[in-house]
Formats: sequence, structure tokens, C-alpha cells
Amino acid sequence: MTFEPTARPRRLRTDGVRPLVRETTLSANDLIAPIFVDETTDKRVPIDSMPGHDRVPVEQAVDRVKEITETGVSAIMVFGIPDTKDARGTGAYAEDGVVQRAMRAISQETDVYLIGDVCLCEYTDHGHCGVVEPHAHNDPTLTVKNDETLELLAKTAVSQAAAGADMIAPSSMTDGMVGAIRAGLDEAGFSHIPVMSYAAKYESAFYGPFRDAADGAPSFGDRRHYQMDPANAREALREVQIDVEEGADVLMVKPALPYLDIVRDLRTEFDQPIAAYNVSGEYAMLHAAGEKGWLDVEETAYESLLSIKRAGADLILTYFTEQLADRL
Ligand code: PBG
Repeated sequence: MTFEPTARPRRLRTDGVRPLVRETTLSANDLIAPIFVDETTDKRVPIDSMPGHDRVPVEQAVDRVKEITETGVSAIMVFGIPDTKDARGTGAYAEDGVVQRAMRAISQETDVYLIGDVCLCEYTDHGHCGVVEPHAHNDPTLTVKNDETLELLAKTAVSQAAAGADMIAPSSMTDGMVGAIRAGLDEAGFSHIPVMSYAAKYESAFYGPFRDAADGAPSFGDRRHYQMDPANAREALREVQIDVEEGADVLMVKPALPYLDIVRDLRTEFDQPIAAYNVSGEYAMLHAAGEKGWLDVEETAYESLLSIKRAGADLILTYFTEQLADRL
């Protein structure tokens, strides 16, 4: 055998040069950590399917935020578990709703950048992300009433901004949600508050642990009438284009790892910042394998987030901040 390699890329892989030629880096500034605030409990309740995460009572929301900011991460997203649910998700836009109470405390007592998820599924008794026909229960072919839902989403966004939210993130996949929320915020004097749209949110089985955590699983049917079909990529570009036209400031893809092609497509096609949501199922998988001794959670988590950035995301929502604290 006389073949000699004509190119030697290994030259750039020595310990000395690797950091110099590294194309992607991950820092605490890239990350947003979700927290769960629960009105139905007065003590922290561990979330079984998301080891290391608890539902915390409103009174402990500030402590929970401080645990996160200690890792160097300075942005959080708040999810609420209300004590009562009804057909119109009233708790989502109540002045004394669980998220509004938590946000008031967090914004008064910390400097964290506070992002509000805007959706109705945690607050509706049927668990869908908007208003449904009264007779829709048990009929999985009936679906969310789009335009009636818009007004409630706008009210939710305004009530969160009034409670101290720095950014609003609508996740319901209602047509027109960004435009309705932008108009609502502007009319209420919150034209300075940016909107991060869950623009390309897929109907994904990777949300399973979150639905346990936030108690937001639909009681009938599923979400395929409003969330996107995992089979579609071009449709994501249309969805995102609409959100841009309606005034979205940041564009999100969700989930992250199974949808890195979508992250890359958006990076190529749009100039806005791109966010990716490394969802509950992506977190739970690594932890489950880690518990069996099959994977190293910290290493695989770091590699996951680095890959999401490499695909083109500027910011990442992730439950891994605390596992990665030492490396950020
Ligand atoms: C609310 C919402 C969901 C998630 C974020 N916001 C659940 C869903 O659409 O079912 C999922 C987040 C995760 O899995 O980590 N609509």
C-alpha cells in the first residue's frame, strides 16, 4: 500500500489549536431556563419525568429563579399550574393568576430577564390551547375556535406584561396570535415588549414529560389541528413568514434536536434571532439513559446544546442549565 493522504485535517485537532479553530461556542448568555410555578401546593414537588425540576409554590418562585441565575443564566420562562381550570382558561389572564403573582414577585426581587409563555392549555379544563366548541368534548375531530381564542391570548399577554414580563412568547399555534398579541400589547402601552413566537411548533410526542409537569395534556383528542405536522419543512417557512409579518421579534423552532433542519432553514431564510426549544422529552431521554449508566448526561447535554447552536440557533430554551452550570 503506497497511498499517502493528500490532505491532513488532523493537523488542526491538537489540543493547542482546537480552541482556536472552534466554530461554535456555548455560553450562559445563550440559554433560557423554564420554571414551573404551582398554585396547588405549598411545598416543592419534584417532577418525576424531569429529574432536577420541581413545581414550586408562588412563594418560592424567587428562590427558584436565584438557583438558576447562580448558574450564570440570566433569562427564565415561567409556566403556571393554576388551582382552578375552566372552559375559557380564565386563570391565564387573571390579575391574580399564578403566573401573574409569580411574575410580580420575580420582577420586583430579581434582575432576571422574565419571559412569559402565553397559552391557554394549562388553564382550560379540556386542556386545549384555546376555546373549543361546548360540544367538542369527546369529539376529537372538533378543534379550537381560532379567532375567539385570539382575544384571550392578547389579554393573557397584556396581563403578563403588566405583572412584569420583559418578553412575551405565544405558544398556542393559533393563526394570528402574534398580530393579536402585538396589537394588544401596543394598545396597553407595552409597545417596547418584544414577542418571541413559537413560530414553528410541531405536534410532537417529545412534549410528554412537560404535560405531566404542567398538567396540560388535552382531555380528548390531540393538537394536530393547530400544531404542525412533523412531516413538513416548507410549511415552517410559511408559518414563520406570517409571524414576521405580524411583528414577531424572535422566531422559535420547537422541539429542537429532531428539527435541526428547520433551525438551519430559518437561519438561512430570516435575519431575526432564532430560538430553539430543547423540550422536556429531549431532557428526559438523556436523564433516563444516564440513570441506567448508558450515557453521560452532562456530556450529552452539552453536545446537544452545542449542536443546536451549530445548526443556527442564537438562543436555546433548555432544562439543562443546572447540569451544565460548571461548564457555562
Ligand atoms: C404550551 C406549551 C407546551 C410546551 C411549552 N409550551 C406543551 C404543549 O404544547 O403540549 C412544551 C415544552 C416542553 O415539552 O418542554 N402550549
